[in-house]
Amino acid sequence: MAAAAPGAEDELQEEGGLATLTRDEQPKDIAAIHAVVTAAFGQPAEADLVDRLRADGDSAISLVAVDDSGIVGHVLFSKMSAPFRALALAPVSVMPERQNAGIGSRLIRAGLKRAATDGWEGVFVLGEPEYYRRFGFDAVLATGFTSPYAGAYFMALALNGGLPMKAGKLGHAQAFVDLR
Ligand SMILES: CC(C)(COP(=O)(O)OP(=O)(O)OC[C@H]1O[C@@H](n2cnc3c(N)ncnc32)[C@H](O)[C@@H]1OP(=O)(O)O)[C@@H](O)C(=O)NCCC(=O)NCCS
Repeated sequence: MAAAAPGAEDELQEEGGLATLTRDEQPKDIAAIHAVVTAAFGQPAEADLVDRLRADGDSAISLVAVDDSGIVGHVLFSKMSAPFRALALAPVSVMPERQNAGIGSRLIRAGLKRAATDGWEGVFVLGEPEYYRRFGFDAVLATGFTSPYAGAYFMALALNGGLPMKAGKLGHAQAFVDLR
């Protein structure tokens, strides 16, 4: 029997002759994702956070970048409480030896595309504005929202047009709350 065709959202990219596929996380990937996130951050805290978000049912979108060597990158979008359908982007991880080759950007763009397709209305992220600006994240757009993460590094991105509301109370998934 022929192998299953990639899903509609699966994307194959070439970079320096090295093919990288972006696809949904599968149950068999869990240990490899933990290893990639741990390697990217140099500690297991963020990888444990991914496991907890998944176990709690708060993971909405979890994508991996795969090449012949296995999983080389991962991104997770988790459910938030918000005045509209919103996701939090975090964490995003690329194997140290594969960083700065576009893998993180492709994972984020694929995740944002999926979020829009799935009807999510906005995405929030806490991170380096210099990095996240390129995807359309804007700190000014997040200023009306109440969150423990509010500040210059807290950004919002509107999917499918504009944010339905410019202000309101945000809550991250419990796994994030327990980190603080
Ligand atoms: C951050 C990370 C996911 C980016 O993925 P990547 O595949 O290396 O990045 P890309 O190739 O898509 O993009 C490279 C660009 O991002 C920039 N960049 C990478 N990390 C950055 C950071 N922490 N702050 C600002 N810019 C950063 C690079 O300077 C480069 O900029 P340029 O395009 O202007 O040259 C990856 O470096 C990583 O896993 N880092 C460790 C974990 C981490 O800090 N995650 C983010 C917080 S959740």
